[in-house]
Amino acid sequence: MKIIGTGSALPKKIVTNDMLSEFLDTSDAWILPRTGIKSRHVISDETIEGLGEEACRKALDMSGLAPQDIDFFIVSNVVSEHVTPGLGCIISERIGLTCPTIDINCACPGFIYALDIAETYYKAGKVRNVLIACAEETTRMTDWGDRSTCVLFGDGAGAVVLAPGDNIRGTRLHSQPASDKIWQLRTLVPTPYITKEEADVPLQMKGRDVFKFAVTACTRDVEELLQDLGIAKDDVSWYMVHQANRRIIDAIIQYMEQPQEKFPVNITDHGNSSSASCPILLDECNRKGLFKSGDLMVLSAFGAGLLSGVAVLEW
Ligand code: UT7
Repeated sequence: MKIIGTGSALPKKIVTNDMLSEFLDTSDAWILPRTGIKSRHVISDETIEGLGEEACRKALDMSGLAPQDIDFFIVSNVVSEHVTPGLGCIISERIGLTCPTIDINCACPGFIYALDIAETYYKAGKVRNVLIACAEETTRMTDWGDRSTCVLFGDGAGAVVLAPGDNIRGTRLHSQPASDKIWQLRTLVPTPYITKEEADVPLQMKGRDVFKFAVTACTRDVEELLQDLGIAKDDVSWYMVHQANRRIIDAIIQYMEQPQEKFPVNITDHGNSSSASCPILLDECNRKGLFKSGDLMVLSAFGAGLLSGVAVLEW
């Protein structure tokens, strides 16, 4: 398979670090050096399905394909207002897709998991053109009184259109189960039979543990897959790494011993948009004309679960 179209969509509301310090005990002087984030896009009057639709339409436009040409739609999303039907069904209706669709919740590496699923469908000969959308409203998961989490996140959607081709060289997924590192609880509708205590808990995170996991998982995933594929790190033109924290990316660059220029970054004005982060970065770089045909690219992401994944492709 190969990527023939990319698209992204961001909420119009931009919240700077200084705006956060108006109601939180925080500051640009704390946030910027520790995370690399100056501002983030935050959902206000938009909907996540609207952002997903916009990203998909842009990716379809670039690909030259029509909605009826798509025969499988994968949507990555951690949380949305709709419990059912899945976000994939809701976006399908808005775009006019009639193909099967599945929602996946694989946290920040959701885009890599979606690519891996798509590749499996291609290998099975079941699909011709696949649409992937990653749409996330992470700012609706955190407690906006908790300075240790809410400053880190931003919202948005990214999409890619896939067509037949042999550009994907390989994918690799990993799981290191630990559900106490990044977690959130929401209560379900009560019944007369529920006797256990239930409470909504906004996003909780053991930041330092997640930081270590992110650096270790990313470098291990990338180095193992490149080695299996017989590709030297130096031969890779672009390392597209999940935009969680600038310091995580800097540590990965140091361990990988690769030039910083190979690691495009947009966290400065996006924050962490979970699974949407990689496809948004991909689309922004693609539209700037950064990639040349034949460039080798690594996509790597990590997050709650703890899950991680990597894909290597030729542009
Ligand atoms: O997709 C994966 C998602 N997760 C991540 O990428 C998170 C990875 N982890 C990190 O990026 C870092 O651990 C953080 C940026 C979240 C936190 O940085 P840290 O250097 O690990 O800080 P810390 O949590 O150890 O907190 C140090 C201090 C604490 O104060 P005390 O207890 O030392 O007085 C915090 O209360 O910094 C305080 N603090 C803040 N101060 C001002 C925490 N958040 C803030 C804040 N503004 N926003």
